[in-house]
Amino acid sequence: MVLNKKHFKNNNVSVQETNDSSIVSKASMAQFGYFEDPFLQYFIKKVQRRSPLIHRGYYIRAISIDYVLKTFLLNVSQEVSSQIISLGAGFDSSFFRLKWKHLLVNCRYYEVDFPEVVNHKHILINNANVLKNLIEDMACVNNCIVSKDYFILPCDFTDLPKLKMMLEQNNIDFSIPTLIFSECVLSYVDYKASEELMKWIQLQFKNSQLSIYEQVYPHDAFGQIMVKHFSKLQSPLKRIDVLDTITKHKDALIYAGFDVAIGFDMNFFYENYVKEKLSLSNLDVFDEYEEWHLKCSHYALVSSFQGSCLNFATSTFPKTQIICDNLESNNCVAPIERLSLLSVLFKRFGHACVKISSDIVLITGGFGVDFDNGHKKLSSAFVVRNNGADFNFIKTDIKLMFHTMVLLDDGSIFVYGGRLSPVKPCCSYGLYKLENDTLKPIQIFSNCSCSSENSNPKCRWRHSAVNLKGNIYIFGGICSNGNTFNDLVCFNSKTYQWKKEILKKELVPRHSHSMEIWKQKLLLYGGLNHENKTLNTLNVLHIQDDESEVYIDEIQFVPQLPARYSHTSHVVDDLLVIVGGVDPSEHYQLPIILIYLSKKVWQPLMLPISSPEYPLMLHNHCSILTSDNKVIVIGGGGNCFSFGTHFNEHLSIIDLSQKFL
Ligand SMILES: C[S@@+](CC[C@H](N)C(=O)[O-])C[C@H]1O[C@@H](n2cnc3c(N)ncnc32)[C@H](O)[C@@H]1O
Repeated sequence: MVLNKKHFKNNNVSVQETNDSSIVSKASMAQFGYFEDPFLQYFIKKVQRRSPLIHRGYYIRAISIDYVLKTFLLNVSQEVSSQIISLGAGFDSSFFRLKWKHLLVNCRYYEVDFPEVVNHKHILINNANVLKNLIEDMACVNNCIVSKDYFILPCDFTDLPKLKMMLEQNNIDFSIPTLIFSECVLSYVDYKASEELMKWIQLQFKNSQLSIYEQVYPHDAFGQIMVKHFSKLQSPLKRIDVLDTITKHKDALIYAGFDVAIGFDMNFFYENYVKEKLSLSNLDVFDEYEEWHLKCSHYALVSSFQGSCLNFATSTFPKTQIICDNLESNNCVAPIERLSLLSVLFKRFGHACVKISSDIVLITGGFGVDFDNGHKKLSSAFVVRNNGADFNFIKTDIKLMFHTMVLLDDGSIFVYGGRLSPVKPCCSYGLYKLENDTLKPIQIFSNCSCSSENSNPKCRWRHSAVNLKGNIYIFGGICSNGNTFNDLVCFNSKTYQWKKEILKKELVPRHSHSMEIWKQKLLLYGGLNHENKTLNTLNVLHIQDDESEVYIDEIQFVPQLPARYSHTSHVVDDLLVIVGGVDPSEHYQLPIILIYLSKKVWQPLMLPISSPEYPLMLHNHCSILTSDNKVIVIGGGGNCFSFGTHFNEHLSIIDLSQKFL
């Protein structure tokens, strides 16, 4: 066997390499205007453009740490000396940014990392005058980079005697207000060693704030994919089994001896602490809301305070998240079966499905795995028969994402909306017929426009569509400029005429919601609004032949319905079944919600935790309800930040027949 470099890689090398990939992503994010940092570029060879989702992930990380640094500096009066210690600083450039902005007054800044990383950083700093000029009297003493207010210490910080010695040699003052922070670092350290370190910090720095940014919630599908990714890189997340929730992170800091601990996830931080929200138009083109929210719910900032820094807790974090992250609950669990059928055809998300008969379901479009194993927008389609017992390939020209298909009374299929890319909506729509394993276009219209000038509806995707007595009702959706819609438009399948319905009350513009028919009325639930807030409203739209206007009610629930988007839904008699979806305010996504419409009550329904081998992501999926009250989930998943793209591999059958219907 020929041994390559990989075989010799020890764990420390892999951990150090996490710095190499994060600095490239940080630099790309800064280069594309998400965060002002002119110094990151000096720590990489060349800016490599990362995806919009990675930009957003690194943006939230950068602004949350920047917030911690700046609020600490604001909290310590500039008259008093203070210190900042970055554990596992890697090539982070915060010192240069703060110095450049004249924010480091009477504050000494320490970084600690393995000797190899420190040596490399020293070389990069020496090569860049822009960096060197911000460091006063730089020298190298005992392998440490020292200066008036910036120190880089080559040390494994779990070696506490050595850490103490190096800090002392470099004039650390254990009594003054000190911020110690770790940004995606402690996750790579054994829990026991990290516990010792937290206790040591608490004992040594009596007036301190310790802030930790790291991964949480490994048990759901996104968490399983995240954990697998780091293991594959040979830098496993070592604390996440013990500290799997924000509550446990906070408890660990209190157990270490700190007086107060505050923690929240990045969805909460973005909502409550970021004043200038990201706009869709001025940065990257972006359409991966689900994975952005899931990524943010799996990263937490936990901070603890003591001594003279105790009152920083409330001034830094006036708003705190109510954390409900105990997985053990008394909720009912529905049985789920993973069909052993396995096909590349199922591996897709953002596709559309329509039930053609009790026995046949047609699936088209989406992004997924093609026959050549490449990941692309798919033009392959398939039908699933006999409740998922078999399937076959269908020929079609539909190559869209986030479109809708609706069955008409004559068996034809109305295909509407969708997009080719986030800047390319599909501006045609039409009627198709399934014949001899081919989905044939019968009539294609191409007068649906992106502008509001003519009477036809604007192009859109992530909308909803239903057939009520031969009229196709279309509500909401989003367009390439990020505009969300709140119009209800109706396509008459006999006359091929469009009509814009007059709504008695204005509804919140939204996309990724669901619409169903209940007692000849339209039921609208959830969605993501124009400000990217997730909705929990359930509206009833009364369509009456003899009325020119559509009356709108909202069904009120106590307790309120959960918020949700990117779910699917089904109506059985008086029950609205919600399957999957994303709620950024929750740490664990509720897999099923049963909403009893007449009784005005709802009930969550859990699923057994999916095996890490086959994580089941319940967003961007399709689902159908069988005549024996089973939900078949087809496809789903998404681009999971830098952890890779996930496709649900199997058809999953959730059995609602026994207890709940
Ligand atoms: C993912 S990088 C993060 C770098 C930096 N905090 C940032 O966010 O840009 C993790 C860093 O922690 C460092 N690290 C991990 N364990 C360490 C330890 N026990 N002692 C010193 N450094 C450590 C690694 O060498 C690496 O530079």
